[in-house]
Amino acid sequence: MAKGKATVFFCQDCGYESSKWMGQCPGCGGGNTFVEEVIDKSAPAKVRKEAAKAEVVKIADIKTGREERLTTGLKELDRVLGGGIVKGSLVLVGGDPGIGKSTLLLQVCRNLSMQKTDVLYISGEESLQQIKIRAERIGEFGDTLSLLCETNLDTIKEVISRTKPEIVVIDSIQTMYNENITSAPGSVSQVREATGVLMQIAKGLGISIFIVGHVTKEGVVAGPRVLEHMVDTVLYFEGDRHAAYRILRGVKNRFGSTNEIGVFEMCNEGLREVENPSEYMLSGKPEGASGSVVACSMEGTRPILLEIQALVCHSNFGMPRRTAAGTDYNRVNLLMAVLEKRLGLSLSSCDAYVNIAGGIRMNEPAIDLGIVLAIVSSYKDVPIDEKTICFGEVGLSGEVRAVSMTAQRVQEAEKLGFTTCILPEVCKAGLKKNSNINVVGVSNVQDAIRYIL
Ligand code: TYD
Ligand code: MG
Repeated sequence: MAKGKATVFFCQDCGYESSKWMGQCPGCGGGNTFVEEVIDKSAPAKVRKEAAKAEVVKIADIKTGREERLTTGLKELDRVLGGGIVKGSLVLVGGDPGIGKSTLLLQVCRNLSMQKTDVLYISGEESLQQIKIRAERIGEFGDTLSLLCETNLDTIKEVISRTKPEIVVIDSIQTMYNENITSAPGSVSQVREATGVLMQIAKGLGISIFIVGHVTKEGVVAGPRVLEHMVDTVLYFEGDRHAAYRILRGVKNRFGSTNEIGVFEMCNEGLREVENPSEYMLSGKPEGASGSVVACSMEGTRPILLEIQALVCHSNFGMPRRTAAGTDYNRVNLLMAVLEKRLGLSLSSCDAYVNIAGGIRMNEPAIDLGIVLAIVSSYKDVPIDEKTICFGEVGLSGEVRAVSMTAQRVQEAEKLGFTTCILPEVCKAGLKKNSNINVVGVSNVQDAIRYIL
């Protein structure tokens, strides 16, 4: 092996580095995630020389202007970014293959090009013709958008420094490679190297860069989790492949709050923004059916109403079947145990299927009360009033506990025409009197069931 080169092992999920192969990663606990790579250990010398010149600065002497933000033309994306694109930021957009990452970023390019912003879209996955075909579905483009099909990092660096666009999109990081690194594109060292280079470009030239990264559960391609700590912002694009809507979730953001979500719908003309997700989630709710109730969950600062469905039926086997789609399976089991113990429902002989309609995933404890009421409604086969909504965390003694942002949730319910809102008794005190919606405070599950059924 050449001088300065060494063999190391990396965890593909978290980037943990080790000199020997291990079955289980000490960093993230993942099994069989280590891959072997050859790295060049001689590089750090240069860095050390530069560090010697560094000067320290007093925090009071640092001048900040108002940070410049560029709007992407998509309100949902702007919100997740914290108000638009920050100059010189590096944003990672991760997600399963085929979820719509390229479509989303091409739409951003389109909007920016219509505002006369210089954008460079670099694709290592598709040919110019393929991008053009996609672009034609999306709509009209301005003439400040340039395309480049390239995977060599040196060439990309040269092109960016020469053309100096304001925004660059790299689709995808797993196809980019540096010739000096022997491992294949998509390996941990290549992906890290590529991100490092892009980071230098972003900070050095003040260019904002979007990086697309595919998330793979298993396989040779390094997951973008390895880069999470290197970039400024991490957004994940998720959704059910079979449902049309997509959720963009902020996981890390140096320039704004995380937990914000953006909701999109995949149409024939690309992604369409869903401004009122609650309305969208509740469309198609059955009327007069038992086992269905509307609950409210917060996603960041946004209340989202969703329909919780439960189907409880007699089990023909000794081991009852239980499933939870869109929410935590263990939580559903726990809530069923609470119902069994505190209310005396004989659920242990029943199969139970709980589903959050629309394919969305919600894990906030505030939907506990909804899950409980849906299960009881199905068990007793009594429908719940359609204009009723509920939220609250359920504890092990069957008590209904406080949740945050009560006022926003009630307001959202009112906006969508609900007439009754069942919420934790302790949350009721802080609410303003409201004539359009009947607010019912409950302190335990029994009270809620008595009121509703
Ligand atoms: P794409 O952006 O290529 O996914 P990614 O870059 O995350 O791998 O999106 C792929 C899917 O989106 C593809 O299955 C087709 C669908 N699609 C539409 O339904 N409508 C459209 O207008 C476009 C462009 C894509
Ligand atoms: Mg793509």
